[in-house]
Amino acid sequence: MNKYCFSISRRTFIKGAGAFAVAATLTPGRLLGQDATPILRPIPSSGEMLPVIGMGTSQTFDVGENPAVRAQLAEVVNVFFEKGGTLIDTSPMYGRSESVVGDLLEATANHAKVFAATKVWTDGRQDGIAQMQQSMQRMGVDVMDLMQIHNLRDWRTHLPVLREWKQQGRFRYIGITTSHGRYHEELARILKTESFDFVQFTYNIEDRAVEESLLSIAADRGIATLINRPFQRSAMFRKVRDVDLPEWSKEFDCRSWGQYFLKFIVAHPAVTCVIPATSKVRHMEDNMGAGFGRLPDEGMRRRMVAFYESL
Ligand SMILES: NC(=O)c1ccc[n+]([C@@H]2O[C@H](COP(=O)([O-])OP(=O)(O)OC[C@H]3O[C@@H](n4cnc5c(N)ncnc54)[C@H](OP(=O)(O)O)[C@@H]3O)[C@@H](O)[C@H]2O)c1
Repeated sequence: MNKYCFSISRRTFIKGAGAFAVAATLTPGRLLGQDATPILRPIPSSGEMLPVIGMGTSQTFDVGENPAVRAQLAEVVNVFFEKGGTLIDTSPMYGRSESVVGDLLEATANHAKVFAATKVWTDGRQDGIAQMQQSMQRMGVDVMDLMQIHNLRDWRTHLPVLREWKQQGRFRYIGITTSHGRYHEELARILKTESFDFVQFTYNIEDRAVEESLLSIAADRGIATLINRPFQRSAMFRKVRDVDLPEWSKEFDCRSWGQYFLKFIVAHPAVTCVIPATSKVRHMEDNMGAGFGRLPDEGMRRRMVAFYESL
C-alpha cells in the first residue's frame, strides 16, 4: 500500500466538499481554537476561499535528514496549519524541498489540509511530464492543487499539458510564475491572451513595479495572484533592524516589521495570497499573525511606503 493512502483519501474527500467547506473550517473556534478569523480571499476562477498568508519553501526546506532540523521544520509546518494556513508553494528548482514538504505533511498528518502548489521547471514535453509526475510523488498528492510554469520556462510546450491534466482532474488549478522583476512584458502579453487560474510574481514595499501592470491585469482578467519574495529575502529586515515600528501601525493591528511588510502586500485588493518562507517557528507565528485583524487602507499604505523610504 502506498504510504500516503490514508491522507490522500481524507484529502480528496475534503477537496470534494468544495469552497463552502473550506471557508467553514476556518471559522473561529473550530480550526484555530482562538477568537479570530483569518483573512480569506476568493480564487476568481472558482470562488474557493484561500487564507491570505501561505508559505514558500525556497532554501528554507532544502534540507537533509538531520533530525533536529527536520523537527524544527515540522513545528514550522504545524504552526502554519494551526494558524489557519493552507497554501504551500514549492518547485523542483528548490533542491530537496518538494520531498521535504511531502515528508513533513505526512509526519504532521496535514495532507488533508494542504493546498499544494508546485511548478514545472524544465524544457520539453516529455521531461515536463516526467518532472510533474515526480513532483506529485515527492509531495505525496494524487491531485496537485496548483501546477505553475516556473519563470515562463518553455511555457508554450507545457501549457497544453497543464490544461489537459486540469481537464482530467489531476490539477485543480494552473498558473505561471516569475520573480525579481523579470519577464514582466512577456508575462503581461501571455496573461492577456492565455487563460490561467493563478499568476505568481514579486511584490513588496520596496519593489512595487507590478502595481502598474501585472496586478491590474490579474484583477481585470480574474486571475488569482501569489506574491513571492515579500521580504526581498531578508534584505528588508536588515534595513529596519534598529528602527521602532511607528505608533500608527497599531491602527492596522501590526506588531512587528514582518507584519508591516506582509499587511502592506495583503491590503492590495488584487492580491490573493502571499508566500513568505521561513525555517523558524517564531517567524512563522509572526508571519501568520499578519493574516488576522485590520488591514491598512490606501491612505495608510501610502504612509507606510513614505515611512519605509525615509529610513
Ligand atoms: N520564480 C518563482 O516562482 C519564485 C521566485 C522566488 C520565490 N518564489 C517563492 O516565494 C517564496 C518566498 O520568497 P523567498 O523565499 O525568496 O523570500 P522571502 O520570503 O522574501 O524571504 C525569506 C527570508 O526571510 C526570513 N524571514 C521570514 N519570515 C521572517 C520574519 N517574520 N522575521 C524575520 N525574518 C523572516 C527567512 O529567514 P528565517 O528562515 O530565518 O526565518 C528567509 O531567509 C519562496 O520560498 C518560493 O516559494 C518563487
